[in-house]
Amino acid sequence: TGLTTLDYGFVNTASTASAITYIDGDEGILRYRGYPIEQLAAGSSFLEVAWLLVYGELPTVDELADFTERIRRHTLVHEDLKQLFGALPYHAHPMSMLSSAVGALGTYYEADVDDPEAVDLATIRLLAKMPTIASYAHKKSLGQAFLYPDNSLSYVENFLRLNFGTMAEPYEVNPVVARALDRLLILHADHEQNASTSTVRLVGSTKANIFSSISAGISALYGPLHGGANEAVLEMLAGIQESGEGVKKFVERVKNKEDGVKLMGFGHRVYKNYDPRAKLVKESADAVLTELGVHDPLLDIAKELEQTALEDDYFVSRKLYPNVDFYTGVIYKAMGFPPRMFTVLFAIGRLPGWIAQWREVNTDPASKIGRPQQLYVGAAKRDLPAR
Ligand code: CMC
Repeated sequence: TGLTTLDYGFVNTASTASAITYIDGDEGILRYRGYPIEQLAAGSSFLEVAWLLVYGELPTVDELADFTERIRRHTLVHEDLKQLFGALPYHAHPMSMLSSAVGALGTYYEADVDDPEAVDLATIRLLAKMPTIASYAHKKSLGQAFLYPDNSLSYVENFLRLNFGTMAEPYEVNPVVARALDRLLILHADHEQNASTSTVRLVGSTKANIFSSISAGISALYGPLHGGANEAVLEMLAGIQESGEGVKKFVERVKNKEDGVKLMGFGHRVYKNYDPRAKLVKESADAVLTELGVHDPLLDIAKELEQTALEDDYFVSRKLYPNVDFYTGVIYKAMGFPPRMFTVLFAIGRLPGWIAQWREVNTDPASKIGRPQQLYVGAAKRDLPAR
């Protein structure tokens, strides 16, 4: 039926035109709306980048102030929605809790796909409420009381307090940690048509509401080959430390594909030279651990692992380099987050990108419902035996 190519994993098929993010995988270039990631990481803030991704231009001072203020006023989560967490087991993975609760936001808010004001309000609600919800997933797993947001704090400061503050004691935000987290969120904010973003776009192409679409994106991000890699990297590093097998032996097992073991945090579908985000994250890892006075042997193992892999023909010939997830876990751990929260942090960072891409799919006149073809390889027609 007109099908001419089969493309597992969409390695060679563009599903859309997009004006949001540019990547040159051979040169290690990443730009949001034309602005290089290095410049944004150095001189911008996460909410400014969120505006840039969603609206296509840098905000004016007034626009950014208004956007920030609106987000601040929507950080509360409906008291009834909080009860959802009571129905979930404390050992549930925070990513499952996050996708459930963000999907549940759609039960509270009407968000007509074709009403730009409603979409703007849903954009604000998502950016404002997702960090609150994420902190509740964290608190639930700790068995601690949920905190109310403190709107005198910045976006990231508020998030840190919601996670690490308690009802019993005041919480002092470390400004270096807050700035580092803001920068990490910027580095995750969009990455064109990756698996979770493509999921958001595919669900969005059916005209489903934005909350359901983002919830689907969170589910796609959960997997260890995608956002879940940051948690998997830390498990890998801790495993190497605990087993005492040493980096060289571990790398040999990866090369021999023993039990399908991979070097997590290495390799990328698009970057075949280096991942520019990984470079920036590595700088942050050194800076944050130094600032916090943390000496984590896992950082030493990560550096040795990177060095060993970069000198090994298996990785060099396959163009496998550290990706964004390789060093983030070490930083999040130093900040005090448990490994199961790492991918949740990725989701908070990726949220503006998902929103921008969802809006693009719903405003581009060329958009159509996504509907891939298949190559049927099952049984030819056969008849039920006479009965
Ligand atoms: N460790 C060992 N070998 C690897 C790795 C790895 N991390 N990544 C790829 N390879 C090998 C793979 O086995 C294959 O070898 P061969 O040709 O002998 O069969 C070759 O390299 C090509 O790999 P591929 O699986 O065809 O590449 P892909 O583009 O389909 O997959 C990837 C990309 C990111 C899923 C993969 O590199 C991977 O699984 N990496 C580890 C997980 C990870 O770190 N994911 C985070 C990606 S970046 C952030 C994000 O998107 O969330």
